[in-house]
Amino acid sequence: MTEVKERINPPLDAPDAAEEQYRWNRRYPELGTGPITTDRFLSEEHFERERKLVFGKSWLNIGSVHDFSGNGSFFVRDIAVLDVSLLVVQDEQGTVRAFHNVCSHRGNKLVWEKSGPCPYLFACRFHGWGYKQDGALASVPDEGEFHFGSDDKNPGKDGLGMVPVRTEVWKGFIFVNLDASGTDSLAEHLGPLGESLKDFPFDALELRHRYDVSDEANWKVILDAQNEIYHLPMLAPLHRFLGGGAFATNEDGYTRLLDFERLGLHTVFTSDSDIEWVDTPMRTAVAKAHPDGGLTTLPIRGPFVFHVLFPNMVLGFLGDFMFTYNVWPESVDKSVWEIRMHFPRPDTLADRVIHDLMKVRFRDLLCEDVTGHAALQVGLKSRARDVFVVGDQEVQIRSFHQNLDEYMERGNRG
Ligand code: FES
Ligand SMILES: [Fe+2]
Repeated sequence: MTEVKERINPPLDAPDAAEEQYRWNRRYPELGTGPITTDRFLSEEHFERERKLVFGKSWLNIGSVHDFSGNGSFFVRDIAVLDVSLLVVQDEQGTVRAFHNVCSHRGNKLVWEKSGPCPYLFACRFHGWGYKQDGALASVPDEGEFHFGSDDKNPGKDGLGMVPVRTEVWKGFIFVNLDASGTDSLAEHLGPLGESLKDFPFDALELRHRYDVSDEANWKVILDAQNEIYHLPMLAPLHRFLGGGAFATNEDGYTRLLDFERLGLHTVFTSDSDIEWVDTPMRTAVAKAHPDGGLTTLPIRGPFVFHVLFPNMVLGFLGDFMFTYNVWPESVDKSVWEIRMHFPRPDTLADRVIHDLMKVRFRDLLCEDVTGHAALQVGLKSRARDVFVVGDQEVQIRSFHQNLDEYMERGNRG
């Protein structure tokens, strides 16, 4: 295997057998070893708390600059769990802003298209009020009949632009925060995770494909099922076939986390085959096309790196392939799982073929996962058990649920 040119955080050495058992619990004893309650995946009351105290307060990734068609374009983003529609605009100078997609006259949904170039004015279909790219109200038909600014109760025309939403862009990813009274910056929210990726060349990657999967499961079922690699050697046939060789395993063939870190609210884990390398068909194909080792030339921590950005985003790397997940609750047992696949710009036809092969294999792998999510929800819903257990190799799940509980607790107090 070709050496990675630079690693931000070198992976840990493989532990010896005596150190391996309960390794992550020893690193993070505060996570405990207790079970996770079933109710948190089923209860309407719990879901309502998440809606209000998590999605209503946290920074949320709603897409990236790849969703624009260039400066002077827009996309509309509906967030069902918050009952909001957002109009996200990149103006002619490249500044990104998000607004409530609501007309200030009588509340009509302003833009109905999903995306496109910005019109001269965003014009409401009902009575034709028109708004500029920066949200300002520019045009009101029959303006003289309105009492703009006539008294305290009547805002002036200046105060009737589209309602802005707190928006920040990090490494091309667009985040919004619907808590108008919140004061934490996105950098504060990302904390050490943002810091750990600050030199990563995100602009060398382009969005090549997107899937939106309607998933019959609670949003945390979907996140948890992705946030562990324990299932890889078991789920057949694709996980077994494709996962083999790309993940560290012990001598019994069970997957092993090579490293796991809690970074504020967020987590990162890595796994690779530095311990015992077995080539996959994909890697063999890549090795042939890239004699200089094109798969591992990006400065990441290892061949498989999985970041969970609280609350509902995943940023993962597998060699030079970057994927993101955004898991959006729609109700307590229904969610949309958005999957985006990014690759470096291809230099050769061989690159392009390999990327496309990766794309379809990854899709097939995720199809296997989706079936599992619905089955998990059915099992939980039976309430046959009040709690379920997780092993030390599923420590990420334990950490996520603890972070979620603590975040809601803080939100309740604050
Ligand atoms: S509701 Fe938009 S112009 Fe009347
Ligand atoms: Fe999976």
